[in-house]
Amino acid sequence: MKLLPPLLALAALPLLLGCGSSSSPTPQPSTATAPAQRHLSPEQLYLQCRACHGADGLGVSGINPPLQGSPYLDHDELMVPIILHGYRSGQWNGVMTGFAGRYSDEEMARLLNWMRQRWSPTAADTDAATVRRIRLSLGNRRAQWRPDELRERLSALSAEPEAKEP
Ligand code: HEC
Repeated sequence: MKLLPPLLALAALPLLLGCGSSSSPTPQPSTATAPAQRHLSPEQLYLQCRACHGADGLGVSGINPPLQGSPYLDHDELMVPIILHGYRSGQWNGVMTGFAGRYSDEEMARLLNWMRQRWSPTAADTDAATVRRIRLSLGNRRAQWRPDELRERLSALSAEPEAKEP
């Protein structure tokens, strides 16, 4: 029996991160424990989403919604909760559970900026500090987000006074 040379096993790492069911016999490292010790490209970070939302962000008809044109994509206050805990509207046959612990704050910011560059180029960039602030504000929440909760978050946002009336 031949063992995989260690270098080859390392080269396969990014592929293993992509999906839950890997056919490789190499034991899969836990991505949840050490996000800070790796450097993944946005493309590699997006592998977590790609299986369902597609390489072009177009989704799968009836099953997984497109990210291109999603009304959520521009808003950190909606995207961070969705990525952390998942989303359930009941309008699609697929299921989206959360990715809490899979991404560092910096990685989630990098993933968000990359998706926006592709599918909503006029949206503002975000950063790790913003992701961290939102994550901490959500406390111990675990449940998937419902559309009405996200709508509430959005209207709370637009109700915030940006500039004081003179
Ligand atoms: C296992 C499949 C799956 C994976 C993996 C997945 N999603 Fe989803 N996602 C879904 C499904 C299904 C929905 C719709 C759920 C519903 O509406 O009930 C959804 C909804 C969304 C929405 C709301 C879109 C809209 O306009 O309604 C966003 C944003 C989103 N996902 C982003 C992501 C990101 C970013 C990732 C990667 C970190 C990801 N998803 C990974 C299946 C997935």
